[in-house]
Amino acid sequence: MFLSRLSMAPRDPILGLNERYSQDPRPGKVNLAVGVYYDESGRIPLLDCVREAEAAQVALRLPRGYQPIDGATAFQEALLPVVFGLQPGTPRASRITTVQTVGGTSALRLAADFLHRVSGVESALISNPTWENHRGVLASAGMDVGTYRYLPKGALQPDLDGLLADLEHTPAGTVVVLHACCHNPTGYDLPAGAWALLIEVMRRNGLIALLDIAYQGFGDGLDEDAAPVRQFMDSGMPCLVAISFSKNFSLYGERVGALSVVAPDAATSERVRSQLKVLIRTNYSNPPSHGAHLVSRVLSTAVLREQWRGELDGVRVRIRRMRHRLVAALYEAGMDRDLSFITRQKGMFSYSGLTVEEMRRLRETSGVYGVNSGRICIAALNDGNVDRVARAIALACHPHRK
Ligand code: LMR
Repeated sequence: MFLSRLSMAPRDPILGLNERYSQDPRPGKVNLAVGVYYDESGRIPLLDCVREAEAAQVALRLPRGYQPIDGATAFQEALLPVVFGLQPGTPRASRITTVQTVGGTSALRLAADFLHRVSGVESALISNPTWENHRGVLASAGMDVGTYRYLPKGALQPDLDGLLADLEHTPAGTVVVLHACCHNPTGYDLPAGAWALLIEVMRRNGLIALLDIAYQGFGDGLDEDAAPVRQFMDSGMPCLVAISFSKNFSLYGERVGALSVVAPDAATSERVRSQLKVLIRTNYSNPPSHGAHLVSRVLSTAVLREQWRGELDGVRVRIRRMRHRLVAALYEAGMDRDLSFITRQKGMFSYSGLTVEEMRRLRETSGVYGVNSGRICIAALNDGNVDRVARAIALACHPHRK
């Protein structure tokens, strides 16, 4: 029987750790593996702006019909100011086609299907290192996936020269996946001035940008974090933008994302939309409605939008405080290497520099889960667990020290 010939597939390198964490019976376990923000009490917050939007939404007692294939127009328009800094209905906004997707991951997959199956793009470049799922998503769409240099082993800042040189030697028509902000897993973003150089090389070489923006608001602020997206748009080059609202709305399970394609003009945009709709219809048919209603209500209601900005500011401040707390606690626990890089990294993660073996020891000896690449989620630390985590890291790094 065909099923009996199946071999066991490996666990997912990030979500597979979640599964192992849930099965771990130890009371003191800490999950620093997945990119999820937990508040000071260790819970995934329900943002106040979302709570209010949800109360208003539920009070409408709307029937649960199908959404349009590309999601609601209100949702598509509501994200334009926050991601692109544009008002809907303006000539510049008419170049942008947005469709709702099932979280940021399906935005990437839809982008890959669109590029490969509709536009004939054969190959993609992802950063080395990158989010564990990038390669799988692009490869499952049928693309050849290579890498560009980003962070050499042990380096404490991106290798911009290496990155530019790699793009210089990449054949025209290749799609290049770029992290708009809060580079996952490293936390090291390109310096602001680097984006103009990147755009210049990509334009000269006929490369296609696919910007992944999953952590907007977690780096320097909503507008600051979207600056690379807006720079690409302003350059006049066509590009694709995969957007996730999982993290910045704390709506992980609602799967709210979007794919925007910036085209040269409105007529091209219409054709892009028609093609995206075919890809969506033959995959998941149309996106879920509830989370998208909440996001569009918050973004299109001035009071709620301001509340959201304020709540995100609070999230960012707390993560920064935890970066400093962790460094102090690691020194206290006896670590003697320079750890100041942890406070310079941006977003939820720290690329700790720990080896696979140290990450394994951390998990097995102390029940502290991080990704094998050495990535740990700072956003899951709080005053109640940070000292324990620091002692566990010191023990994993120096198992024989008394
Ligand atoms: C992560 O990097 O941990 C998150 O983006 C969650 C995921 O889907 O991997």
